Amino acid sequence: MKIIKAKILAIGLFLAIININQVSAQEPYFHKADLIKTGVYYYPEQWDKSQWDRDLKKMADMGFEYTHMAEFAWARLEPEEGKFDFDWLDEAVNIAGRHGLKVIMCTPTATPPLWLTKKYPEVLLVKENGLTATHGGRQFFSWSSAKYRELTERIVTAMARHYANNPNIMGWQIDNEPSHYGEEDFGNEVKAHFQQWLKAKYQTVEELNRAWGTMFWSITYPSFEDVALPNQKTNIAEVDPHELLDFRRFNAEECADFVRFNARLLKKNIPLSQWVTTNFMHFHDRVDPWLNDKDLDFITYTMYPVGGGYTNVGGLGNQGFRIGLPSRMAFPNDFFRYKKDFTGVMELQPGQVNWGLYNPQPYPGVIRAWLWNSYVGGCSIACSYRFRQPLYGGEQYHNAMIGPDGVTPSVGGLEYSKFMSEIKLLRKNFSPNTPVPANYASRKVAILWNFDNYWDTQIQPQTDQWNPEKIIFKYHAALKALGCKVDFVSEDMDISGYKMVVMPMYQLLDEKLITKLTQYVQAGGNLVLTPRTGQKDRNGHLWEQAYSNMIKPLTGARVLFYDVLPVNVNGSVTLDDKSYNWKDWADVLEPQPGTETLARYTNQYYKNKVAATLRKWGTGSVTYIGPDTDDGKLEKDIIKKVCVYAKIKAVELPEGMILDWRDGFWVAINYHSEKTLTVPIPANAKVIFGQRELKPAEVVVWTE
Ligand code: GAL
Repeated sequence: MKIIKAKILAIGLFLAIININQVSAQEPYFHKADLIKTGVYYYPEQWDKSQWDRDLKKMADMGFEYTHMAEFAWARLEPEEGKFDFDWLDEAVNIAGRHGLKVIMCTPTATPPLWLTKKYPEVLLVKENGLTATHGGRQFFSWSSAKYRELTERIVTAMARHYANNPNIMGWQIDNEPSHYGEEDFGNEVKAHFQQWLKAKYQTVEELNRAWGTMFWSITYPSFEDVALPNQKTNIAEVDPHELLDFRRFNAEECADFVRFNARLLKKNIPLSQWVTTNFMHFHDRVDPWLNDKDLDFITYTMYPVGGGYTNVGGLGNQGFRIGLPSRMAFPNDFFRYKKDFTGVMELQPGQVNWGLYNPQPYPGVIRAWLWNSYVGGCSIACSYRFRQPLYGGEQYHNAMIGPDGVTPSVGGLEYSKFMSEIKLLRKNFSPNTPVPANYASRKVAILWNFDNYWDTQIQPQTDQWNPEKIIFKYHAALKALGCKVDFVSEDMDISGYKMVVMPMYQLLDEKLITKLTQYVQAGGNLVLTPRTGQKDRNGHLWEQAYSNMIKPLTGARVLFYDVLPVNVNGSVTLDDKSYNWKDWADVLEPQPGTETLARYTNQYYKNKVAATLRKWGTGSVTYIGPDTDDGKLEKDIIKKVCVYAKIKAVELPEGMILDWRDGFWVAINYHSEKTLTVPIPANAKVIFGQRELKPAEVVVWTE
């Protein structure tokens, strides 16, 4: 009772402090007037102690406001089982404090020490090929291991108690990029957890057999204990897709459970003034960061826009590979603000990296541009990975804020300093309660997202060109190119406040969702549906109906069939005399009376058949886009039409431009590496930095 009272009192006091400082209720940990706080990682254990003071002073002199410590330092913090050594870290935290730097403390569980893995090898992850992970890298432990949880509890609790009353600690990061980098764990404890998870989900094994369609190929299970993990490496033909879908869901929940476990340990021991987060990878298809939205005070992400050669790392113009795609920063900002109005970029690329297929120099100025993008997209913190370039270890060629000599700021370091001094100036121009401009408010739209669709379409892609990551990026990019403010939302959320909701590849749905969407449209909402929508139920079974029958009452159109093409064949589509190409996927439509045709296929044997439809519902509408085009331009042009119908004041931005608004400030960024772009700044605007004619990687900030 006493404890509860004390907690209530503490919460009251905390909220009172918040009020005094005029922090918005949604942002209890950050002052709105600070706009964004900038920091950088420091690993004191990797440097000679005699350099700590020099380094941390330099960090503060460069304009950083906080640092980040202890990530990966388990071997130093608990050199022997149960024996903790915080002295060195205390000293580093104190030096930081002396230089006016706050500290984000990080739990070190991503890198267990050797004594641990040697004595308790059962904590190690088992890879799909049956090999047990070995010591020496990171993230090689099992989220499901009871022993690992026990050892985690000990170190995390010890750290939390030790730093709970330290005024230099601003918040906590749990682990590092929880993901296992895409590996799934096939260990015995995982199997036992999976079986328990299935029991809780299906109650009876008959129900599981029905949901997984195990009559197919005599897979039938007599008991939950007979279910093995779906391992493609130990199977000859395809593993059961329904089991695989459940395994993906389970894997994401197992990760979330590990994060939750840590968050609870921290929160039990630290004061309310220290926040708790973790840094998810910008978009990782084996975990679902949203599962932790209630456990963490906010979710942060890590972002490296220019690590050459990977999907979605490209760019516009011949130097685009140094700049990154225009919506590359905007995507995680929007995705990780989930259910909150802020997020943070916990790691942002400092310069050249070491892990890309090739690792080019970023374009001069672009690091500052990414920082501005993180600010305007809703980040309360932007933190660079890392302060000093490592002299040894796996990331020697990874740039940092300071070069290998330990004292000379890198190009990225100078760009950070510039940004930080600009933010200081911007803080002076901040005026609280500036209303959201009407045109920007009208552009608030949502993307309805559920990882099930990503996983299910990935499990049965139907073409090796199917790339769910590209599709979600494409739709998001289309909305950003129209100047929209995009929120990612889930099915449990109220969508009635959005004039438009886009549902990328929403293959799995049920009647409850269809009812929700129907009510949304009847109330004047505008729904944009895309290839593969509604083909299956939540177990991933096709409906016992014609394709698309489930959504036909909404769309007023049938999907006759879908097509996919070889990589060297172009499918073509026309909309208002403009032509577009596709090859990954095309739903071929047949509109019912009353449904308008927007676009048609112009080649293949179904030439002239319908590619996109619009059904008006009073002031609302349902649009169906059939093809997944190569460059997403058809999708953008159709969404533009829906904007007109929905009275959304979209702006057609020049290709490569990002335009957004936050806290009274408009920010425009040029991501086109070859073009100077003209920014639509109104005549009465007050420009704070930059110019209307925006050169590549340049930024302009203004108020109206
Ligand atoms: C991140 C990781 C960091 C560092 C960085 C290098 O994915 O979280 O610890 O390795 O990559 O770019």
